[in-house]
Amino acid sequence: MDRVYINSIGTHAGTEVTLRGWLYNKRSSGKIQFLLLRDGTGIIQCVVKQADAGDETFDLCDSLTQETSLTVTGTVRVDGRAQGGHELVVSGGGIEVIQIAQDYPITPKEHGAAFLLDHRHLWIRSKRQWAILRIRARVIRAIRDWLDSNGFLNVDTPVFTPNAVEGTTTLFPVDYFGDTVYLTQSGQLYNEANIMAFSKVYCFGPTFRAEKSKTRRHLTEFWMVEPEMAFYDLDQNMEVIEGLTCAIVSDVLNDCREELEVLERDITKLEAVQSPFPRIHYDEAVKRLNDAGREFEWGCDFGAPDETELGSQFDRPFFVTHFPSQIKAFYMSRDPERPECALACDLIAPDGYGELVGGSQREDDLDELLVRIGEHELSPEVFEWYLDLRKYGTIPHAGFGMGLERTVTWICGIEHLRETIPYPRMLHRVRP
Ligand code: 4AD
Ligand code: MG
Repeated sequence: MDRVYINSIGTHAGTEVTLRGWLYNKRSSGKIQFLLLRDGTGIIQCVVKQADAGDETFDLCDSLTQETSLTVTGTVRVDGRAQGGHELVVSGGGIEVIQIAQDYPITPKEHGAAFLLDHRHLWIRSKRQWAILRIRARVIRAIRDWLDSNGFLNVDTPVFTPNAVEGTTTLFPVDYFGDTVYLTQSGQLYNEANIMAFSKVYCFGPTFRAEKSKTRRHLTEFWMVEPEMAFYDLDQNMEVIEGLTCAIVSDVLNDCREELEVLERDITKLEAVQSPFPRIHYDEAVKRLNDAGREFEWGCDFGAPDETELGSQFDRPFFVTHFPSQIKAFYMSRDPERPECALACDLIAPDGYGELVGGSQREDDLDELLVRIGEHELSPEVFEWYLDLRKYGTIPHAGFGMGLERTVTWICGIEHLRETIPYPRMLHRVRP
């Protein structure tokens, strides 16, 4: 017989099924025991009536502790009041214990963040974490679906690399048989090589930054999807970012209603995520910040409070473009009319979620690029292969990186990035 899972229990209404899972919680009222069983796909209430199931099965319920592993056999009953619309009426002899769990450390009471993070390997079993990590998986699928069906080829980039991409202060050095290499900060430079072979590409994987600050928006290991396109300019880059972002939100709205409900996410905010996204020049962003009473000088980078202020002025994600080149990476091309500005765009989320995407048109001229590499005090030898791309058929091109955990945090409407990755790595945390 096919296995039955809770998330498809509706197709078995009126029949007897066996579910395999763990005891999430239980309560009793006189001659009835209610067991909340979870099987990884959902939670269902199992009803054990002493009169129907018999004394032995009924009494067995008393010994079941939280997270006991067990199988439960019973008849699926439609019940509009029950979570998921169904409950399981347990048959006599319908409970088989696999293991009575020892004292489970995470009880339904409130626990502190440090305690929960120490027990992350267990914490992921709880309903809220279940909802968040399922949304993460749906976002990953949405990203791949959209890119794969819009002419992008997935070309993987290496994790060990000799190159700094996003500055030299957040590198993780690794001893590579006596040579020093780094864990990748971004696959972008390789993407730029890959577009010359495949036109539109993306890489999607873990990236690493030795972020020494403790914030709710930074991880040291985070996932990034990085599309790169040959013969694209800044505006066309923003069109791709917008299309991808709208597709992600729409897929989650279509497929993750239950998860969003668990998180009590305000759906109307996600429904507002429609094209077009506002695009504001950095000059205008500075003016908006000053008008809002914030002290902010042209030439500075946004801090979290600046992004929050700007984000409060929009109901959907918006772009800030043409940042001062001095605060941006070496590879960004300059605005020919205002060389002090880079052809860059950040996508910033409303409601204080900050930067989701960083992107730009790339510097495609060999001599300009050499100057930038010098200005940023990067060693030209390790960039030789990258400079080849400007020697052999250079072209205008653009791309971006979308932070997966930032995007999931915003979509889930939660406080902290650390809950959106199964095993978060942060300044003081690499365990479990
Ligand atoms: O703006 P960033 O640094 O851009 C790049 O790495 C480019 N090379 C990408 C490209 O053009 N191919 O990072 C891109 C995004 C940010 O907008 C943010 O969402 C996320 O990556 N990000 C982080 N997420 C979690 N923790 C961190 N420490 C992050 N640093 C960046
Ligand atoms: Mg950035």
